[in-house]
Amino acid sequence: MSLDLAQEELLDLQHPLRHLQQADDDGPIIPHQPHSIRNELSRIVFPHPHHVVEISLAVDATPGCGGIAWPAGEVLSRYLVYKGPTYVQSKSILELGSGTGLVGLVAAKLGCPSVWITDQAPLLDIMNRNIHLNNLSESVKAVELNWGTPIPHPNDSPPNPDLILAADCVYFEPTFPLLVQTLSDLSTSSTEILFCYKKRRKADKRFFTLLKKQFTWEEVHDPERAIYTREAISLLSLKKRNKA
Ligand SMILES: C[S@@+](CC[C@H](N)C(=O)[O-])C[C@H]1O[C@@H](n2cnc3c(N)ncnc32)[C@H](O)[C@@H]1O
Repeated sequence: MSLDLAQEELLDLQHPLRHLQQADDDGPIIPHQPHSIRNELSRIVFPHPHHVVEISLAVDATPGCGGIAWPAGEVLSRYLVYKGPTYVQSKSILELGSGTGLVGLVAAKLGCPSVWITDQAPLLDIMNRNIHLNNLSESVKAVELNWGTPIPHPNDSPPNPDLILAADCVYFEPTFPLLVQTLSDLSTSSTEILFCYKKRRKADKRFFTLLKKQFTWEEVHDPERAIYTREAISLLSLKKRNKA
């Protein structure tokens, strides 16, 4: 028996991600996650002998799956801390699918003067909250950027970032060509792209088939690699191919 509209709306309110978590032949579209996280505050510490980074992070699953911190985002954050301030200090950085903004905030805490954290409109509130919680409004800007749509160009922004960051952005097949399009729109063959990926579904292969047409990649050298490989996470450095 199908649910009527009012019941559907009630269920959506109680569990906004339920449609994405229904399984198809290849498993659930997004992984199971606790949907009871509402407006919580956590403190994440990334240890390092010379530059410990501490981030206060508001998390809230209400606006969508990006409202909580995902393991690939933590892996990418730890990698930035390992690379240290000199890696980010003279770069402009744009993060795609930032969710809470964690990775971009870590880059700013390390001293990057110009970071855009970007995502879809429902995530802008939590990204802005996290910018303010960490006193980073001088260096970090939250911007709406929907993959596959034209890149926004507010006045104070670098349209071609030196470094693009993306963590856990491969999970929903209809967005695969859109994400590749946006990576391509934002980059040249000299742009660095750090792409942290968690393998979940066989269908993810289709993303890499599309990506291969425009980009090459290799695993980055990271002393922690053996740890996160066990969780099916890879940290890739992407380069845009030169046009023939
Ligand atoms: C699994 S979450 C990862 C969030 C964050 N990077 C992390 O590691 O914690 C995927 C993110 O991609 C964003 N996203 C999904 N589709 C998108 C699209 N078409 N345009 C822009 N962002 C999108 C979601 O809103 C979400 O924040």
